[in-house]
Amino acid sequence: MHSPEPDCVHELLGHVPLLADPEFAEFSQEIGLASLGVSDDEITKLSTLYWFTVEFGLCKEPDGIKAYGAGLLSSYGELEHALSDVPERRPFEPFSTAVEPYQDQNYQSVYFVADSFEDAKIKFRQYTATMKRPFAVHYNTDTQTIDVLDTAEKLLYRFRTLKAQVDHLYNAMTILTNLRTA
Ligand SMILES: [Fe+2]
Repeated sequence: MHSPEPDCVHELLGHVPLLADPEFAEFSQEIGLASLGVSDDEITKLSTLYWFTVEFGLCKEPDGIKAYGAGLLSSYGELEHALSDVPERRPFEPFSTAVEPYQDQNYQSVYFVADSFEDAKIKFRQYTATMKRPFAVHYNTDTQTIDVLDTAEKLLYRFRTLKAQVDHLYNAMTILTNLRTA
């Protein structure tokens, strides 16, 4: 019950709405950034994490477990299956999720449930911190390019940029506080 390829339904109903959510978009981008400079084995694990989150992820909500994976949102058949009693549902833990085998010929037999996007991001960052690579990267939103943080000068520049952003936030907070007490 997936729509036939080229699958515009999957892209438009599955991926696009979620990418409009800043929390989710950041999570999706972090998977891509984590792949830069790592081994093929690590990339395979990242692909598996992508599969079980961006494509077939479930997430806890106050009123129950909801689907956020594009492969579920664009398949009413698999959406029903994922939320039924048939498949296994396990907590999203990147270290074990990354090595879970999967296939793309039938509905999944196991799904991973995140506590929230924020929690998934925190756990994912803890996972990527253990990956071996010769440099760290940062996505520069000003230039829309990827900065490779491989020298002390580049790190210092990032710290200065970060400090400027914190200063702006502090100023905004001060203005808000003054408005409330005025
Ligand atoms: Fe997809």
